[in-house]
Amino acid sequence: MNYIGSKLSLLEFLDESINKVADKNCRVFGDLFAGTGAVGAYFKKKGYSIIANDIQYYSYVLNQQYVGNHEVLEFSGLEKELPGLKEIKHEDKKDFVCNYLSSIKGIKGFVYKNYCFGGSKKKEFQRQYFSDENGTRCDAIRQKIEVWKNDKKINVNEYYFLLSSLLESIDKHANTASVYGAFLKQLKKSASKSFTLKPAELILNDQEHKVFNEDINKLIKNVKGDILYLDPPYNQRQYSTNYHLLETIAKYDNPKVYGKTGLRNYEKQKSLYCSRGQVKKAFQDLITNARFKYIFLSYNNEGLMSHEDIKEVMSKRGKYGYFTKKYNRFKADKDANRVHTANKTLEYLHYVICK
Ligand SMILES: C[S@@+](CC[C@H](N)C(=O)[O-])C[C@H]1O[C@@H](n2cnc3c(N)ncnc32)[C@H](O)[C@@H]1O
Repeated sequence: MNYIGSKLSLLEFLDESINKVADKNCRVFGDLFAGTGAVGAYFKKKGYSIIANDIQYYSYVLNQQYVGNHEVLEFSGLEKELPGLKEIKHEDKKDFVCNYLSSIKGIKGFVYKNYCFGGSKKKEFQRQYFSDENGTRCDAIRQKIEVWKNDKKINVNEYYFLLSSLLESIDKHANTASVYGAFLKQLKKSASKSFTLKPAELILNDQEHKVFNEDINKLIKNVKGDILYLDPPYNQRQYSTNYHLLETIAKYDNPKVYGKTGLRNYEKQKSLYCSRGQVKKAFQDLITNARFKYIFLSYNNEGLMSHEDIKEVMSKRGKYGYFTKKYNRFKADKDANRVHTANKTLEYLHYVICK
């Protein structure tokens, strides 16, 4: 997923840097601002037991899939409903179920009524985040997944797999420049194409992993491990507003939506890490309470906290240092109104070896 602050293209830099600092006996890796799950998934493949967390529910769903799910998915509860499934090889069952869902008829549900032109054209605000066809199909698939879960035809692992597949697949066809803070007036090419449900990657291994959906400053007192990786927001843009539609598709809770962009209420998901006045205190509290041997922090040179602030806070726990890497700016930042116009930013990986 194209996500603000995604570390997908920095994974090797993170890995190499972490290896230079951490000892070889580390086993438990915490990724507590997990976003897309890219970092947790990478270190899961390296054999770590992962603790993942994010305040956003869509991120929790993705992390349940990429991190939490580590065993084969059988979908045996669907064998009666989907003829042919029983005879399919284990490794092809996920594709079979996704193909079935891709073929079901659309329904005029919440997404269509609030976020597609056909459904919203007679309302106070007309919105076009998805084509009418993709919106109705998204509704139908989302409702079917919930019915299967409620009828106990799928287990929780299969549920998160299907939801993640839906979030990833529909996101590729969103009619936006990049995030859900605004939609485009005309349907762009990728948005007018029909979407199909592509199976989300399933990483099999024999480690147990834990996934949470909490504010990190609350969770930190209840987890411990070897390596703590922190990748907080860098600026004032809240993830809850930029990705509100993914949150609604993931929860499918018929929220009250308002304004031009159809935002849901996000009072409980406002991040202190996006507030210039509150970020340092929140960070200080987090670092003080962390029960890990090594703490790493990704931050860039344009973030709300200064290098001095970070150094001051982290040094209190032990030996502090940092690595840097030049990095291409997130695409959405091309907007001419933005304060920073350089195409490259300097990405820092700060660390402290705790005493
Ligand atoms: C820079 S992104 C992480 C990107 C991630 N490393 C990746 O590669 O996809 C920051 C994440 O922190 C989450 N977040 C912000 N404030 C939080 C908080 N107080 N507790 C937990 N998660 C928070 C956001 O929802 C967002 O997903």
